Amino acid sequence: MHNFNNKPIGFFDSGVGGLSVLSRFKKVLPNESTIYYGDTIHLPYGNKTKKELIGYARNIMNFMLKKGVKAVIIACNTSSAQAYDTIKNEYDVPIYPIIQSCSKIIAQNKLKKIGIFATEATVMSGKYTEELKKYNSEIQVKEIASKNWVGIVENSITDIDAAKKHIRYELEEMLLFNPDKIILGCTHYPYLMNEFVKYAPKDIFVDPAEIFVDYLKDDLSSRELLNNGVDSSDRMEQFYVTSSPADFVKNAKIFYDVKNSPILV
Ligand code: DGL
Repeated sequence: MHNFNNKPIGFFDSGVGGLSVLSRFKKVLPNESTIYYGDTIHLPYGNKTKKELIGYARNIMNFMLKKGVKAVIIACNTSSAQAYDTIKNEYDVPIYPIIQSCSKIIAQNKLKKIGIFATEATVMSGKYTEELKKYNSEIQVKEIASKNWVGIVENSITDIDAAKKHIRYELEEMLLFNPDKIILGCTHYPYLMNEFVKYAPKDIFVDPAEIFVDYLKDDLSSRELLNNGVDSSDRMEQFYVTSSPADFVKNAKIFYDVKNSPILV
């Protein structure tokens, strides 16, 4: 069957981080075809300017449209914070940014104090605070830019002492704020959970990927965009990267089983 609903859904991030969203998405919506784009040549996004991030997002959107996607998921907090508002009306497909899609749901949980760990560019945008306060003006938010965490995840070096020290230092600073919940506001950070739980209970951490995917399911369904699953024989999964495909596969290994070799764009 070849109809519009069989078209793929695009996902993008600067690297392997967005695989945390893709992985959850595949569990909840296994009938969907997907295209994942890791913009690894520009990694990390967290220290890039707004102008650069808008440029990357436009390139990726144009790529996705050429591939015939039916929707695009911005599986990257930094792009959601810095690029989404500018590009959101430039394309004819629905675009889902992780921060804006999740904040309403998180804010409605009647929490008083929320901590956010995110990249420098996300924290500088103030997007999480802005979005959370839109739905709960009383909420207190503390955002901390965790400068080294993306590199720790991308290079799979969670085990080295210097990495552990960075994680502990920033977590201790956050815990002084006494948050009800801590949002892992960068798609790379859930991969550091084994370290986080040494200092705080697991249920204090919120991986927005879980909330995001539930939201995506509802919204795609209400727009009648989901694959009906009657014939999934042409379901596909593709990966594209902008630098070494071999490194991507290696770094992705502990997070996602990348079965099809990524294609270098
Ligand atoms: N994983 C991305 C995010 O959610 C960006 C990380 C980076 O490249 O700095 O913000």
